Amino acid sequence: MTLSLILAIGCGKQGNSPASSVKSAAEAETSARQSKIVVGFSQVGSESDWRRANTASYKKVFTDENGFYLIYEDAQQKQENQLKAVRNFILQGVDYIILDPIVETGWEEVLKEAKKANIPVILVDRKADVAPDLYTCWIGSDFYKEGVNAGKWLENYLVKIGKDKENLNIVSLQGTLGSTAQIGRTAGFDDILKEHKNWHMLERQTADFTQAKGKEVMSEFLQKYPEIDILISENDNMSFGAVEAIKAKGMTCGPNGDVMIISYDGDIAALNKLLYGDFNAIFECNSQLGPVVAEVIKKLNAGASVDKTIYVEETYFDDTMELSKIIQERKKILSN
Ligand code: AHR
Repeated sequence: MTLSLILAIGCGKQGNSPASSVKSAAEAETSARQSKIVVGFSQVGSESDWRRANTASYKKVFTDENGFYLIYEDAQQKQENQLKAVRNFILQGVDYIILDPIVETGWEEVLKEAKKANIPVILVDRKADVAPDLYTCWIGSDFYKEGVNAGKWLENYLVKIGKDKENLNIVSLQGTLGSTAQIGRTAGFDDILKEHKNWHMLERQTADFTQAKGKEVMSEFLQKYPEIDILISENDNMSFGAVEAIKAKGMTCGPNGDVMIISYDGDIAALNKLLYGDFNAIFECNSQLGPVVAEVIKKLNAGASVDKTIYVEETYFDDTMELSKIIQERKKILSN
C-alpha cells in the first residue's frame, strides 16, 4: 500500500466530502492492485517512433486481464526524472521495477535502494553500469552487433556498386551520448571502419535520437562539408530529419542519390522510406520487448530463475528485399 494511500485512508472523513472521494479513489486503486503483479516501469521518453512502438508493446501486455497492474512513468529523456520514478516505485512497494536507463552511468545508489527494499529490477533496452547483483536481468538488443552488421553491409554494398576502392566521406548522427544504443552502434561500426583506409569519418555529432536535431545537425554537416557520400544515422528519426536537410539543399539520398543513408530501428515509417528510395539500409532494433519482459516477470513470480542477459532477435532491411510484403507483415505484428 502506498504512503499517500495510507494517509488518504487515515485522514479521510465520512460522507461526500472531498476527503471521502479521495478515500474512495484510494480504495479503488487498492482493490485494482490486489492480487495483481504490481509493476513500475520507468521509460526513457517518447523521442522516436521506435520508443512509441516500444511503449505500446508494454501497454498491450501489462494489462489487468494478464494479471498486471502497471504504473507507467515517461521520463521525457531526463535521468533525474527516472531516478525520481524509481524512488517512487520503491516507496509504493511495487513487486517489480522495469527500468530503461537513458544512459549507462549514475544508477548505483538508486539500485542499491531497490535492492534494500527487496524489489527485483529488470533492466530493458539500455544497460546500467552497475554491479550484477543490483539487477535481476537485462533484456534488449545487441547494439554492438547492429553496428558491425551495418559496417559489413556497407563493405559488401560498395563492392556490388563498384565503389569499394574509392575515397568515401562519411558523417554520423549519434544517439544520446552514453546510452547503450549509441555506445554499441558507434563501437560496432568503428570496428569495420578501421579496416578501410578509404573510408573517411569527417565528423560525428549527437542528435539525441530526435528528428528535429537530426535535421539541424545534418544541415550543419552539409554546410561544412561539400562532399558527403555516406550518412550513418543511429536511429530512424534522426535519419528522417537528415532526409529533410538533404532535400532542402536540393540534393538527393538513397540508392540513386547523392548521399547513402544507413539507419537503425526499422519501424513502419522507416521501412516506407526504404521502399520509396530515401534510405539504403536499416539495421533492426526490435521494439517489441513488452511480451518478453512480461514472460520473464511471470517466471520470476512463479519462483523460476531466468537468464541474466536476454537478447531479442533482429534482422536488417535493404532495397533488394520484398519491402511491401515485409511492411504488411510488420503491420500485422504491431496491430496484434
Ligand atoms: O535504445 C534504443 C534506441 O532508443 C532506438 O534506436 C531509438 O530510436 C530510441 O530512441
